[in-house]
Amino acid sequence: MEVIIVRDEDEAGEIYAQCVADLVSVKLDAVLGLATGSSPLVAYRHLANLVVEKSIDISQVRGFALDEYIGLPLSHPESYHSVIQRTVVEPLGLNSENVHVPGDTLAGAPLSDGTRMAAGVAYDRAIAAAGGVDIQILGIGTDGHVGFNEPGSSLASGTRIKTLAEQTRIDNARFFDDDVTKVPTHCITQGIGTIMRARHLVLLAFGAGKAEAVAETVEGGVSAFCPASALQMHPHATIIVDEDAAFRLRHKDYYRYAYAHKPAWQGI
Ligand code: F6R
Repeated sequence: MEVIIVRDEDEAGEIYAQCVADLVSVKLDAVLGLATGSSPLVAYRHLANLVVEKSIDISQVRGFALDEYIGLPLSHPESYHSVIQRTVVEPLGLNSENVHVPGDTLAGAPLSDGTRMAAGVAYDRAIAAAGGVDIQILGIGTDGHVGFNEPGSSLASGTRIKTLAEQTRIDNARFFDDDVTKVPTHCITQGIGTIMRARHLVLLAFGAGKAEAVAETVEGGVSAFCPASALQMHPHATIIVDEDAAFRLRHKDYYRYAYAHKPAWQGI
């Protein structure tokens, strides 16, 4: 696990964008794991800029989103189907047929529709059939969730339906006119086991509100209590945090020292 403490979100975005550009230069049809929420937006923006600046051909790049709300129609501006279109597919110029969102054919169907269980299994199969995710970008919830794997989620879980924690709904109310009652109660999310199969995980966290979850993730015990702590078991996980989100890390000096002395050829 590598921890990179950056001066601001832009530096994090530049690091992610360069990492994706390096991958696409050797693998035209790279598979990107996509997150929604606020944290990855700067990374997508920098990647979109780099694609134009360096004339990178990303027409064959494929994508799999982490999660989707249940109960919102696909056309709802806050369905993750819409968010991924708006923040990733359109600015990057990806082919939308190559970009998938869990359960996207079922987004408007009621929770009682049992076909959603099958949708989770089908999603994991589709990721495997694509050869697996190369780079998975992740945000982290204030309760330590990744994807929408709330505390208590199995660290071996596959894509499935979950109930959102009340805290997550409160945190996400900002996307729903600050009205928590408008935030769906359920979602379909890649499991921790699904996420852990990606070859490289890049987790972004900014702001003091994430400091506790980041400390638990990086320096706490591996536990379903903090699902993101599973990243400690991943052979290639990069945690990029700003100073505020790094505030509670005990080994900040070492992380800074290691990054400053990293051989340039190593990348992240
Ligand atoms: C979104 C997702 C969530 C968010 C997390 C942090 O696809 O999987 O885990 O990454 O809730 O959200 P932000 O970045 O908005 O703080």
